[in-house]
Formats: sequence, structure tokens, C-alpha cells
Amino acid sequence: MSMKTGKEGEENRDLFLLNRRRFLSLSGILGLGFISGQTDISMASAEKEGKMTYQSKDYNRLLGMEGFSETLLKNHFTLYQGYVTNTNKLMDALSQLLREGKTGTPEYAELKRRLGWEFNGMRLHEYYFENVGGKGGIDKGGKLIQKLAGSFGSYEAWEKDFRATGSMRGIGWAVLYQDILSGKFINFWINEHEVGHPAGGMPILIMDVFEHAFMIDYGLKRTDYIDAFFRNINWAQVEKRLLLHKG
Ligand SMILES: [Fe+2]
Repeated sequence: MSMKTGKEGEENRDLFLLNRRRFLSLSGILGLGFISGQTDISMASAEKEGKMTYQSKDYNRLLGMEGFSETLLKNHFTLYQGYVTNTNKLMDALSQLLREGKTGTPEYAELKRRLGWEFNGMRLHEYYFENVGGKGGIDKGGKLIQKLAGSFGSYEAWEKDFRATGSMRGIGWAVLYQDILSGKFINFWINEHEVGHPAGGMPILIMDVFEHAFMIDYGLKRTDYIDAFFRNINWAQVEKRLLLHKG
């Protein structure tokens, strides 16, 4: 890709600075947790080489979690690692096509579409694994329970809705999102990995309801898996994801 010069170059630089300022501003608003504190999510990059490379995280600490067999968890970790690998492959392939001026090709379009599947498959699993492995229920005196009650009427109403969302027929994810603009909370059904995400939504609690997440241990009894999930939510981690500047 050629370097931009003149007015176009200045506009690009202004856009970069604007985006950087907005990013830093957003980071500050979100209490830095937005970047790394709220989760141990990978944002590893190899920017020195001019490309971004994601690295899979190690979640072996979850082995032994009550209600989740080692076989299930290890299979799940392997699936997750596949999403990281394929995200990197897609990013590399798209960069290559961009460098070669082949952005108008069907290959570019299909790889670009595929990125939503692989990237979200990677990221959603990271949020999921980060928000389990805890013990004990939600902090009854914490911010989250207050906020859930504010949006749903009560914690119990939120939980009922979240469980119902996760019990829907189909494969995907149940996600409690906080709307970045209003601060309100909504439970979303995310189809597969990439369909149904709210624009400007901050994932607060994520539950995998693909069959691989439970069938090894629970067969078709998804409700039993959801019970086990709730027993293992890492509420302290979930609470850290809140956008405290809102609501
Ligand atoms: Fe999964």
C-alpha cells in the first residue's frame, strides 16, 4: 500500500489522531478496565511487523470446576484455540489481498464476511471463560444487582430472562449487554457468533449455548448445564465489566 501524501495524508493523520483521542477518552471513561482490567482477554499484537496477531489464552485454571468435566473443558479450549488461529489466518489473508490491490475480489468479500465468525468466536469464548470459575452468588450489595434491578425490575426477573434466552432453540450465545449510551441492560440472543450483537453494547455476562458447551456432560439437558453455569459465575469479574459512568 502506498503512503498517502498531501491533503489525503493529512486527513488520514487527523483521523488517526481523532480515533486515538476517542480511544483514550473511552478508555478513561470506562476506567481502563475496558482495555485489560476487566478481563484477561488477549489483545496481543505484533505491530512491529505491521500486523496484529492474537494469542490464545490459557484457561486450564478452570479444570476441576464443579459441573464441568475435564473432557468437556479441554475440548472447549481446543475449539477456542481454533478460533484464535483462524482469526490470525484471516487477518493475514485480508492484509495480503489489501496489499495486492485485490479488495474488489470475491475472495476478499468472503474472507471479510468470515472474519465476523472467527473473531467473535475467539472473543466470545474469552469473555465466557473469564466469567466462570467463581464461587458464590452475586454481591447483594454490589452495583450490578442494583443495575439489573433497574433494568428488569428485580435480579430475579433478569435471571429468569437470561435463562430463557439461553434456553432458546438453536446454537449461539446468551449475552447480557450494557448499552454504552444509555447504560441500560438487555439480554441478547447471539446467533452463531456474529449475528445479533447490539451496536455499542458492552458484554457483561456471556453464556455459551452451543452444543459443544454442554452435551458431553449433559446430553440434551441444557437446563442442567445452565444451572451449572450459574453455580460457577465469576461475579466479581462480571462486576468489573460494568460501565460505571452510566446509570
Ligand atoms: Fe464454545
